[in-house]
Amino acid sequence: MPIISMENVWYTYNRGTPIQTPALSGLSLDISRGGFVALAGHTGSGKSTVLRHLNGLLLPHRGRVLIEGSDTRDKSFRKGLWTRVGLVLQYPERQFFEETVFREVAVGPDNLGLSPGEVEDRVLEALAVVGIDRRLAKETSPYALSGGEQRRVALASVLAIRPGVLALDEPTAGIDFRGRQRIFEALVELKRHQGATIIMASHNMDDMARMADQIVVIKEGRALLEGTPRQVFASHGLVREAGLSLPFPSEVMARLREKGFNTGTPALTVDEAAEEIINNMGARKTGQ
Ligand SMILES: Nc1ncnc2c1ncn2[C@@H]1O[C@H](COP(=O)(O)OP(=O)(O)OP(=O)(O)O)[C@@H](O)[C@H]1O
Ligand SMILES: [Mg+2]
Repeated sequence: MPIISMENVWYTYNRGTPIQTPALSGLSLDISRGGFVALAGHTGSGKSTVLRHLNGLLLPHRGRVLIEGSDTRDKSFRKGLWTRVGLVLQYPERQFFEETVFREVAVGPDNLGLSPGEVEDRVLEALAVVGIDRRLAKETSPYALSGGEQRRVALASVLAIRPGVLALDEPTAGIDFRGRQRIFEALVELKRHQGATIIMASHNMDDMARMADQIVVIKEGRALLEGTPRQVFASHGLVREAGLSLPFPSEVMARLREKGFNTGTPALTVDEAAEEIINNMGARKTGQ
């Protein structure tokens, strides 16, 4: 059974008013336990709206969302859903309300009813994962941090709850390369050691190619294309139709192909692209 199942979900913001905006139009999606799924799509395609359905923040107008087989419309199930599905919003700075970073990250574990010692352990662990200094955390307001640090605090707040599903909306936007690496390493760890299922909306094709084991391309509120990064990025036409670019190495290889270069499987990484170019040129390593 998939851990998450969205079945023919329809959602319209401000429904029934003159400013109604359709966001999801019959979207279906299955996510397996322990998967790392990336949602790709042009701005306004519905990625954030999908994520907001996973923790019951939004409920479908038509269709249904099942988490471990339970419907998010079931009120009593929804009450405890925040402990199962952790959502990190696209603009996390809008969700801070505590005076210090430490207190902010402690909100979730506090609400789980853990002892003060356990809360402290969870907070320190989550801060370590995202690379925020614990002393800084006790003295600083989340609003005093940079955008990248605020994103990491928002992620720590959710990690401290230890949900089985992490729903991350553009988790690395505005974070530099090293910060991005750190977050991805942390996510891979969580997947490996806690069996977490990760679903992430992103604009970064290279990150998705590297990290995800499944990519879902969304266009106008529907899943247009779905598969492994290699399958998805091999469908250049559909990817472009969705208003997206290819990962940089795949783009280079696609351009070479257009110029008559005879390349095989689509390269996802720089190493793969280099390998293909060398093979294609018939060049041999000189061993130097
Ligand atoms: N809170 C809201 N109120 C009204 N309309 C909204 C709201 N949030 C999103 N929309 C509209 O719903 C549609 C889908 O938006 P959504 O934010 O889910 O897209 P997205 O793929 O996350 O975009 P982005 O890449 O820019 O984050 C868009 O037309 C958007 O304008
Ligand atoms: Mg969004």
